Amino acid sequence: MTKIAMLGTGFIGRFYADSIQGYRNRDKIVAIYSRRDESVKKFMTDYDVPFGTTTMEEAINRPDVEVVCVSLPNNLHEEAVMLCCKYKKAVMVTKPLGRNAEEAKRMLEAVEKAGIFNGYLEDLVYTPKFLKAHESVKNGALGRVLWAKSRETHPGPHSEWFWDMEQAGGGCILDLGCHCVEISRSYIGKDILPVEVMCWADTQVKPIDAEDHAIGLVKYENGAIGQFEVSWTFRGGLDLRDEVMGSEGTIWTNGFLRTGLEMFTTGKGADYVAEKAESNTGWLFPVGDELNELGYNHMFMDMLNAFEKGIQPKETFYDGYVVNAILDAAYRSAKSKLWEPVNLAHWRGRTGVGKDSHLQEFDAEHYLVKEEVTHYGAKKLILKNKVTGKISEQVMQ
Ligand SMILES: NC(=O)c1ccc[n+]([C@@H]2O[C@H](COP(=O)([O-])OP(=O)(O)OC[C@H]3O[C@@H](n4cnc5c(N)ncnc54)[C@H](O)[C@@H]3O)[C@@H](O)[C@H]2O)c1
Repeated sequence: MTKIAMLGTGFIGRFYADSIQGYRNRDKIVAIYSRRDESVKKFMTDYDVPFGTTTMEEAINRPDVEVVCVSLPNNLHEEAVMLCCKYKKAVMVTKPLGRNAEEAKRMLEAVEKAGIFNGYLEDLVYTPKFLKAHESVKNGALGRVLWAKSRETHPGPHSEWFWDMEQAGGGCILDLGCHCVEISRSYIGKDILPVEVMCWADTQVKPIDAEDHAIGLVKYENGAIGQFEVSWTFRGGLDLRDEVMGSEGTIWTNGFLRTGLEMFTTGKGADYVAEKAESNTGWLFPVGDELNELGYNHMFMDMLNAFEKGIQPKETFYDGYVVNAILDAAYRSAKSKLWEPVNLAHWRGRTGVGKDSHLQEFDAEHYLVKEEVTHYGAKKLILKNKVTGKISEQVMQ
């Protein structure tokens, strides 16, 4: 059994607690911190937690606490991590790791100096669909990954602090782009250097200082392109969709709005449908097991197994730092309207990875451009002469 202190009793703190203590799991939350006494008491009752406090340090510095789970607003992640370093407690932090790469870098350097276990809670690279798709990509089913696009759009977050630049650190680029960037990066290869970012962002609907809609491109050193599409102004629920295109294949995933359960109701007995569902009447797309569909179960399985074994989980603070650095470049690009470099003081992947050749051998004189069987039964070959560059066609009846 791993004994955990949960910091935060809000939206994600409760999802995490449901996952950690659900399904007869052997892990246990033994301490809870929240801002308000009534939230502490309610969480203690709901999750059978023996100790609660409104002082963050008290929850972390409990002798029985082995791992601290940070589920607090973005501006409080660093304070919580520094306390974990002070008391040498293993720490897992929700996304985004920092409000920017500077914060993330300080946290990364601090946990490594303190020598403590660190996990980055990026659930969307642990969803069953992602795990299956990623395995296929790793096994070569798609050939060379050329383009990895990830979309997270919804009608906007559920708590006031998200809408405040100082506390949140940004708008939908930071809040949702962090998921998308890590998904694309995982498909392209976490050891491949992200080089530069081009991003459009605007505040289209909400009366806020931050961006509520953005689209960005992340160029990787091997020539692959990552793409993120994020919005706090999307109507119709929580849209989580990814597309991976490779030289040998394609994968499309729909993570939430279409999971195979479709229902119509006039509204009688209307109930909770799914995260950020905007309606509970008409045609609906409920989610059978949100904890599983969103990756929380597989994420904590990996995190806590790794902690017990004394090894690194799949997602560490280092990954959170790289994601923050990519998003910082996106913010700069949205302002400058130029490709902006990703500044990484710490890079632990490969460098100098060139782009693979796009010239496919056909015979001594030609490259193959395309091969196709037509509806009238002809097999067509489109070829390019290696010397003259001339394009020609061969038709076999
Ligand atoms: N899929 C995901 O991984 C996911 C989803 C939602 C939120 N998050 C992240 O989780 C963190 C918390 O988000 P949330 O949705 O649970 O927020 P929330 O507002 O629902 O909960 C925040 C919690 O922090 C506590 N808190 C302590 N000090 C506070 C302060 N000064 N101001 C506000 N709250 C304070 C609140 O009492 C509350 O328990 C954020 O970093 C967010 O990005 C991750």
